[in-house]
Formats: sequence, structure tokens, C-alpha cells
Amino acid sequence: MKLNPSSRAEKSLDVFRPSEYTCLVLQYLQDHPEVARERRTCEIGTGNGVIAAQAAMQGASAVVVSDIEDQALAAAKDCLASLDAPSCSFEFHLGPMWSPFANRRFDLILANLPQFPCEASVLSDRLHSWSVGGSDGRALLDRFVAGLDEHLAVGGRAVFAHNSFVGLDKTRAVVEAAGLEMTVERAVTVLLAPTKVAALPLGLAAYAPHIYPVGNYVFGHVSLAVVCKNH
Ligand SMILES: C[S@@+](CC[C@H](N)C(=O)[O-])C[C@H]1O[C@@H](n2cnc3c(N)ncnc32)[C@H](O)[C@@H]1O
Repeated sequence: MKLNPSSRAEKSLDVFRPSEYTCLVLQYLQDHPEVARERRTCEIGTGNGVIAAQAAMQGASAVVVSDIEDQALAAAKDCLASLDAPSCSFEFHLGPMWSPFANRRFDLILANLPQFPCEASVLSDRLHSWSVGGSDGRALLDRFVAGLDEHLAVGGRAVFAHNSFVGLDKTRAVVEAAGLEMTVERAVTVLLAPTKVAALPLGLAAYAPHIYPVGNYVFGHVSLAVVCKNH
């Protein structure tokens, strides 16, 4: 793998650096190497591009990524250009949610979307679009989940990070109403930045047990949701 220290990706590393949420998706792909192999793969909100890169490294036949930020697509291009994946084709699309993918289906859909319950940017070292999920955190998740049936091929699956405190049951209800199946594969605990905690629209108790204080710090649970289209 070549590393280019003067690349645009390096210049934007502080803004687009991967997080524990990213790692959750990466870990799943590493633990299930068959999931990406020879699959037409889409990642919405690719940011730094590493989730898409992991799929390409594990043998995806095509990797199609999107973001609403020009800068993110530039970082993703740098990331994916560094790979040695000659049998994988790449596409980069600028645009929100499903709009770049009209009439297209994929075997594997990956995402780590903005989903923190807040209305305005809460992290001074990220772009506004990084984590703002609206008052209930679901503004993007709802649009994402609503499009899964239309954009998953039969036999396909979607794998996405999902804050446990923004309603896994709501997501499951929408998924199952569409005839899809959802499992929650794993959950991790992450430290929440004080600015995030301060921006929560409701008091901490409203998010218990998935957001909770320990001493002077506040932690949150993040799950990994897997949705399968079996027929
Ligand atoms: C939490 S970051 C995740 C980035 C990267 N996938 C990762 O795991 O590090 C969310 C990404 O979604 C992008 N984004 C925000 N709103 C979007 C939208 N409506 N459609 C597509 N991407 C969006 C952001 O620009 C950002 O790159």
C-alpha cells in the first residue's frame, strides 16, 4: 500500500478521521470475510473511505461510495487509490442518501451515518454533516432504512452502525414491515464528548440505559445492525 504524506486525505485527516463507529463496521467485515467477497458494495456517507476500502480489500467486485461533502469524496478517492484491488471497480458520487443510486441494487450496503440526537454541530474538529442526526438522532437513519428494500438485491445485506439510544426497535419495526430481517450483531461502549452530552435535547435519564454517566464521564452504547433481504 502506498502512503502519500502530502495527499489531500492527510490534510483532512483531522476532520475525517475514523471513529469507534467506523471500527465496528470494519470489525464485522473482518470477522465475516465472505460478506464482501465478489459483492457489489455501496457505502453511503463514506467520509474517509476506509469502510469501503475494507470491503475492497476483502474482495468486493465493485465499490460504489457517496457523500454530500466534496472534501470527503476527495479523501475517499485518495484512500481507495492506495489499495491494490485490481479486480474491483470504483465509483464516487456526490449527493444525499439514496439520490445517487436511483434504480440500483447492491449485494452489500454499508453505512456509518450521522446519528447523534442534536440539531447543530457538536464537535469543533468535525464538519457539521459528520454527526448531526436531528432532535431524535434518526433524521438520516430513517431515510436510510426506508430505502433498504429498494436498494438491496435478493440475498443481500446491509451493515450499519446504530446508536443504541436512538431506537433500535424503531429501526427493526420499519425493517420487518418491509419484509426484511434485522439482527443486532454486537455493541460497544464509547466515551461521549462533553459537547455531545451538552447538546442532547433531553436529560440524560431519557437515554438510559444506553447513555449513562460514570464519575465525570458519560458513555454510550453503539450497536451494529445487520439487515438481510432473504427473498
Ligand atoms: C459519521 S461520518 C462517517 C464517515 C465514515 N464512513 C467513517 O465511518 O469514518 C458520516 C458521513 O456521512 C456524510 N453525510 C452526511 N449527511 C449525508 C447524506 N445526507 N448523504 C450522504 N452522506 C452524508 C458525512 O459527510 C460524513 O462523511
